[in-house]
Amino acid sequence: MVLAPHPNPDAPVLSHFSLEGKTALVTGGCRGIGLEVARGLAEAGAKVAITYASTGAAEADAIAGQISAANGGRAVKAYRCNVRSREEVEAVVEAAAREVGGGRLDVLVANAGVAANVAALDYPEAEFRAMFDVNVNGAFWAAQAAARVFARQAQAAAATGGPPHRASVIFTASVSASLVNIPQKQAAYNASKAALVHLGKSLAVEWVDFARVNSVSPGFIETEMLDVHPQEWRSAWNSMVPGRRFCKPAELKGAYVFLASDASSYMTGADLIIDGGYTLT
Ligand SMILES: NC(=O)c1ccc[n+]([C@@H]2O[C@H](COP(=O)([O-])OP(=O)(O)OC[C@H]3O[C@@H](n4cnc5c(N)ncnc54)[C@H](OP(=O)(O)O)[C@@H]3O)[C@@H](O)[C@H]2O)c1
Repeated sequence: MVLAPHPNPDAPVLSHFSLEGKTALVTGGCRGIGLEVARGLAEAGAKVAITYASTGAAEADAIAGQISAANGGRAVKAYRCNVRSREEVEAVVEAAAREVGGGRLDVLVANAGVAANVAALDYPEAEFRAMFDVNVNGAFWAAQAAARVFARQAQAAAATGGPPHRASVIFTASVSASLVNIPQKQAAYNASKAALVHLGKSLAVEWVDFARVNSVSPGFIETEMLDVHPQEWRSAWNSMVPGRRFCKPAELKGAYVFLASDASSYMTGADLIIDGGYTLT
């Protein structure tokens, strides 16, 4: 097998971005970056499963309903899922493929993540492990469960002589994978995101027969993860970004649609940095 080719590269370019007929799952899809990614994927034509952890079930269902209503009633469903639990992740991925995708899954966005500022000298063991449990292990459980579905679909397509299955895994990493933010002390977060980027590259090679794997590394994005910090820190960060502003989460959705779609059919193992130039200085 080879990396699945674009089915029609000569077609007009906007058609390359279409996700019509595709099914996507976004972990942490009920707020922040994940919510805007879910919106973007639905706007591009995908049926979408979103997962939540601390968000209430009623709120998550309402969010799924809003995305569906804004996109012509397209299937959008919310699932409770703590990505720290491998069993829970596997069950949700299979349920989403069955219930939202009618047996299919094409795109997995492993976006759920946590951040914490703790001095490395004093980092409690349980907190250090918890960071990796969500940001690295949780992303891997989701990618692995989705990849099993993708591999099944690829085998079925090959057996029937159908077109090659084109699947995409996208990790939400961070510029913290390649730089060290100041003044906050977040060694565990930075290391977890660096691990995630290299996990993506490794899986891209290993899974090349049935899925592309890429990561997005955002800079400062205006979500709750940023809002919890003191204004003094946020002003300092702003002055370090050549673009002199932070990013709205919705400004990222186009990049995720690009990576999810045939528009990036030859792109695998890449880390897309979207940071207003922050990592350049
Ligand atoms: N904001 C930034 O500046 C920035 C920059 C670079 C990278 N990122 C990354 O972007 C991703 C999304 O973050 P965000 O900025 O959108 O922050 P956020 O608003 O705090 O969202 C975090 C998301 O992760 C989910 N989550 C947390 N722990 C979970 C768990 N154990 N199981 C399942 N889901 C869990 C949350 O779900 P519930 O709300 O339902 O609990 C929520 O949807 C993270 O991976 C983060 O590291 C953010």
